[in-house]
Amino acid sequence: MSSTKSEILKVLEESPDTFISGAELGRKLNISRNAIWKAVKALESEGYIIESVTNKGYRLSASSDVINSERLEKLITSCQCKVVTYKSIASTNNTAKDMAAAGAPEGTIVIADMQTAGKGRMGRSFYSPERSGLYMSVILRPAILPSQALLITTAAAATVAEVLSVHTSDIWIKWVNDIFYENRKVCGILTEAVFNAETAGLDYAILGIGINIRTPEASFPDDIKNIAGALDIKDLTRTELAAAIINRFFDYYHNLPDVRFLSPYKKYMKLIDKEVSILPGPTASSSRIGLVGDSRYSDYEKGVVTGITDDFHLLVRLKNGQTKELSSGEIAINP
Ligand code: BTN
Repeated sequence: MSSTKSEILKVLEESPDTFISGAELGRKLNISRNAIWKAVKALESEGYIIESVTNKGYRLSASSDVINSERLEKLITSCQCKVVTYKSIASTNNTAKDMAAAGAPEGTIVIADMQTAGKGRMGRSFYSPERSGLYMSVILRPAILPSQALLITTAAAATVAEVLSVHTSDIWIKWVNDIFYENRKVCGILTEAVFNAETAGLDYAILGIGINIRTPEASFPDDIKNIAGALDIKDLTRTELAAAIINRFFDYYHNLPDVRFLSPYKKYMKLIDKEVSILPGPTASSSRIGLVGDSRYSDYEKGVVTGITDDFHLLVRLKNGQTKELSSGEIAINP
């Protein structure tokens, strides 16, 4: 962003409810009124909503909610992060993967206003309409074993649940990494890792987080309209939300494989004593879980959730009394 634009933005952001006159802006920044007008127009074309009233001046509307990468980088204190923003890309995970393969360092964060091919787990898509959500991918270069990659996802799930709970109640984790608000899924997490055959470790991992902040203008598409929801939290900008998530996540991440997030994860995973359906997976220890109350899963093996292990496996007591330990996959919570 040009320095005039970013300086004007900084002054307007510092006084969110106040009109600042063109004369005052000119004095503060030592620039002409015409330069101010041009910069304001340029900011508007980037999505900022700036009220301009004769004899009063300019005021930044709180509903702008543009991701401000410079401000975000300043708010992030738990890692050396570089934020790259896009108006529209296919998938922030794919772009982050390309960047990681080309050598981008850990802490590179890719954020888009919308994704045209947002990816979900198990080959599903993630609906990512313009300005409705936070669509963010983080490049990680973790020093953990490939078998511990699940810890990245679960640390992120605990993080998102904790951060959202500061702003609203009724946030819970549906094992393994979906975040629900009341009875609606408001966040999905997709971690993609690339293995290094020579070191038998992870070359890099991409942590992708998608949060439905506002109900999309055209609502949710038919296939997810009964399950997806939005947070609709007032006075929470995407920049602040992203910073809070990154800061807390990296606190956990830097301590891996220590699992200090197990306790918040357990606190928010409110599935104990709930009956669930287990979808059969490709191996005995890997299962898939469907959506809450989805009748398509009524024929699958059922059981009652009894706990979660220290490595985040779900324990389900089956009807025959045996306990099944699920290491990955999905469950449907029976109504
Ligand atoms: C799921 O619910 O199955 C996981 C959804 C993950 C969506 C996020 S949005 C940012 C990042 N980019 C993607 O293409 N997917 C993840």
